[in-house]
Amino acid sequence: MSHAEENAGTRRDFLYYATAGAGAVATGAAVWPLVNQMNPSADVQALSSIFVDVSAVEVGTQLTVKWLGKPVFIRRRSAEEIEAGRAVSLDDLSIDKAAQNANKPGADATDANRTLDEAGEWLVMMGVCTHLGCVPLGDGAGEFGGWFCPCHGSHYDTAGRIRKGPAPRNLDVPVAAFENETTIKLG
Ligand code: FES
Repeated sequence: MSHAEENAGTRRDFLYYATAGAGAVATGAAVWPLVNQMNPSADVQALSSIFVDVSAVEVGTQLTVKWLGKPVFIRRRSAEEIEAGRAVSLDDLSIDKAAQNANKPGADATDANRTLDEAGEWLVMMGVCTHLGCVPLGDGAGEFGGWFCPCHGSHYDTAGRIRKGPAPRNLDVPVAAFENETTIKLG
């Protein structure tokens, strides 16, 4: 083997090992967060709950908070909104008859099964359209007085139930509860 060939071979080997080394590092970096996600530590689990002060939320308005990277709508419904929501029967719900409420697995989508309190004043939902994930517009938007998703035209009623448009499911109600009179715990 000439001196030049020897050098070329050495360089090839070096490049090969360098590439393999970089690949191994990249793989390690990609795998670690996944493993970490599958085994959340106590710290991470604690962080997944948040407490929201709702004392300043007036009747007929909505607070949007970010939780686990997603918007959550906390709406204090007016008497009209409650009445409109309660007047809807399951037969009127042609797209999704399930409550989609993490606090009431398997329940049907009556207005009472969607709200946080028995009187139906507080409605807590993920602000994520069940079609492709846009954030629906609130404050009575859309043909059913609730929310309207401008991305592809989904209409949700005053209980966040899908009534018209491409979205296949009611807006998801996350795990939530009143911690005390003015604080809602999410998660
Ligand atoms: Fe809302 Fe498509 S993302 S209608």
